[in-house]
Amino acid sequence: MQKQRIGVVGGGLMGHGIAYLLAAAGHEVAVFEPDAAIRASLAKRLRAIADLLGDDAAALQRVTAHEQMAPAVRDAGFVFEAAPEKLPLKRRIFAALESAVAPDTILASNSSAIPTTEIGRDLAHRERVVGTHFWNPPHLVPLVEVIQNEKTSDAVVRATLDLLRDAGKAAVHVRRDVPGFVGNRLQHAMKREAFALVSAGVCDAETIDTVVKEGFGARTAVLGPMEQSDLVGLDLALDIADVLYAHLDRTAAAPALLRERVAAGKLGMKTGEGLRKWPPGEADAVRERLSRFLAAQAKARKRNTG
Ligand SMILES: NC(=O)c1ccc[n+]([C@@H]2O[C@H](COP(=O)([O-])OP(=O)(O)OC[C@H]3O[C@@H](n4cnc5c(N)ncnc54)[C@H](O)[C@@H]3O)[C@@H](O)[C@H]2O)c1
Repeated sequence: MQKQRIGVVGGGLMGHGIAYLLAAAGHEVAVFEPDAAIRASLAKRLRAIADLLGDDAAALQRVTAHEQMAPAVRDAGFVFEAAPEKLPLKRRIFAALESAVAPDTILASNSSAIPTTEIGRDLAHRERVVGTHFWNPPHLVPLVEVIQNEKTSDAVVRATLDLLRDAGKAAVHVRRDVPGFVGNRLQHAMKREAFALVSAGVCDAETIDTVVKEGFGARTAVLGPMEQSDLVGLDLALDIADVLYAHLDRTAAAPALLRERVAAGKLGMKTGEGLRKWPPGEADAVRERLSRFLAAQAKARKRNTG
């Protein structure tokens, strides 16, 4: 693939990982980050990724950090926006981008939940606005959902999929800009049921985690739910659905359990308690375990793809 100039807007948690993986794929990446301290820490954070993955740090030479947006996106073929999740802010950024780039520069938003239909509503060239939903951390989790909104052209979707696949990502085409796209809808359908089970006293939060990690989660990375249904046979899948689905939670609102914990200041690892208790050191151990696991998988994938 031809190497591109790529702009990244926002050099925070997601932006620096996106910058890393595109630079590692050989592109020139310019990051616009308005916060001086975050901008100053970019090089160190990129180097930490290279160290974690055992990569050659030469790719980092291809990343530059910018205080202003225009120089970061000038002549870019793609711009990936990874600024805070606020619609008015993202709209302002996209309006500024439109006046700073060529009419055919692809403008991608990493928004988790805001439809790009809304973000790009006032632009003149809406066919080049596309959703690219990376998963955290973007340099380690393979999936990117490429979301086509009602105005996005097929050519823009194709070019975005090509760029991301060439960079080693498992990029999938989401054909409609629905809330939560595909991945978060699936993830939150499971979480809704988990909250309901704990609220009903069927099991505690720790048991939910054990059931997922040691049960179907143990095979999920190599066997998706549709493959699994075909593996066991759709006749069995139908029998189970007939008996079970009427009992699954269908509450059309955030669960009371979640609301109560938040109201009580129990926000999870950052406050020492959420759905589970987190004594000092245990939260760090979870973070470390996750990072090591994802890095080992990323390295293994790289070895397997040569
Ligand atoms: N964190 C996640 O797990 C995750 C996963 C998928 C998608 N996302 C989405 O990615 C986007 C970024 O999230 P994040 O977690 O990296 O947030 P973050 O707060 O770590 O990073 C956002 C960065 O944008 C910068 N910023 C603020 N105003 C800006 C402006 N006007 N122009 C450019 N940059 C600006 C901030 O200084 C910050 O460095 C959000 O839309 C979020 O919903 C996050």
